[in-house]
Amino acid sequence: MFRPRKTVNLLAAILAAGAGLFVLLVSGPGQSNRVIEDKKGDPQRGGYVARLAGCIACHTDFKSKKGFLAGGKSINTPFGVFQAPNITPHKEDGIGRWSLKEFSRAVTEGVSPDGDHYYPVFLYPNYSRMTDQDISDLWAAMKTVQPVAGKSPDHNLGFPFNIRAALGLWKMLFFKSQPFKDNPSKSKSWNRGAYIVNGPGHCVACHSPRNLFGARDISQDLTGNPEGPEGEKVPAINAASLTKNNWTKEDIVFALRTGSAPDGDALGGSMGEVIRESTAWLTDEDLKAIADYLLDKS
Ligand code: HEC
Ligand code: HEC
Repeated sequence: MFRPRKTVNLLAAILAAGAGLFVLLVSGPGQSNRVIEDKKGDPQRGGYVARLAGCIACHTDFKSKKGFLAGGKSINTPFGVFQAPNITPHKEDGIGRWSLKEFSRAVTEGVSPDGDHYYPVFLYPNYSRMTDQDISDLWAAMKTVQPVAGKSPDHNLGFPFNIRAALGLWKMLFFKSQPFKDNPSKSKSWNRGAYIVNGPGHCVACHSPRNLFGARDISQDLTGNPEGPEGEKVPAINAASLTKNNWTKEDIVFALRTGSAPDGDALGGSMGEVIRESTAWLTDEDLKAIADYLLDKS
């Protein structure tokens, strides 16, 4: 998901790792600044949120038959290879001993129950925008999943990216846990679209450029990414670009449902997977909300 330019990145990363260790020694992992209210979760709604958020696509290896949410296929990045862990309710190998609060802290702040930082490849910068209700529903759905034994292999990351503590600095510089706030001057549908695109649906994670450290500059969001996941070019999907290419609201809804672009081409690569595993399952109302937002996003 991240593609820094290689020449300077090693030096920069070593500096970051050193500084990260220092910051960690001085401050330790950040305290939780979001306390989830104890809401009653609806597992059925939670299943929908899991689709919307792509949890299933990353944490399930459909080819190996390891089991639903029992660990994903390898995720190649310029920092090394990540393995999405087993997140079934298995007590030893999954997250069966976790509480809703621990789950919420992992998903919205990138901190484990032991206080370790997670890599942002687990998209908590986006998920931090999710509502307490969505997280509670997701948690209720996770608990209905069949527990599966077996841990995923360790990540295979080059030095210094294998130093988890350095993530403390990364988070200090580039991450703020920020629940979504409605823009009162926009419609209900626009706000729902904004929530999906920036939050659980994480469209901005691929469709925006990233800096050397794999972080986004929000002012550049949706302007495209020349080097997206697996080195793929990801097009701009802000209003200016979609309008220039004659995309209508109906075209966007149709493409997210079926994978066909208005010129008849099939959307492929990682977008093909996003459509198959996520947007094809969404309600018409949510797809229209996404289109309303994209066509009115500078
Ligand atoms: C792009 C792939 C990707 C997506 C999408 C994704 N994850 Fe993950 N997830 C990962 C990776 C990789 C890790 C391991 C991170 C680390 O080791 O720091 C992880 C870690 C986790 C953990 C910590 C598990 C543990 O044993 O400590 C939980 C819980 C989790 N993810 C739940 C979710 C949920 C819920 C969603 C959807 C809202 C989700 N993930 C979406 C890739 C993903
Ligand atoms: C994992 C990365 C990834 C994510 C997440 C992602 N996209 Fe894409 N998207 C792509 C890639 C790559 C393409 C180019 C596909 C092609 O040309 O075959 C694309 C193409 C598109 C296009 C067609 C644009 C054009 O001009 O051809 C639209 C519209 C789109 N994405 C919308 C979305 C929306 C809405 C979301 C969030 C629900 C999203 N994408 C999430 C990678 C991603």
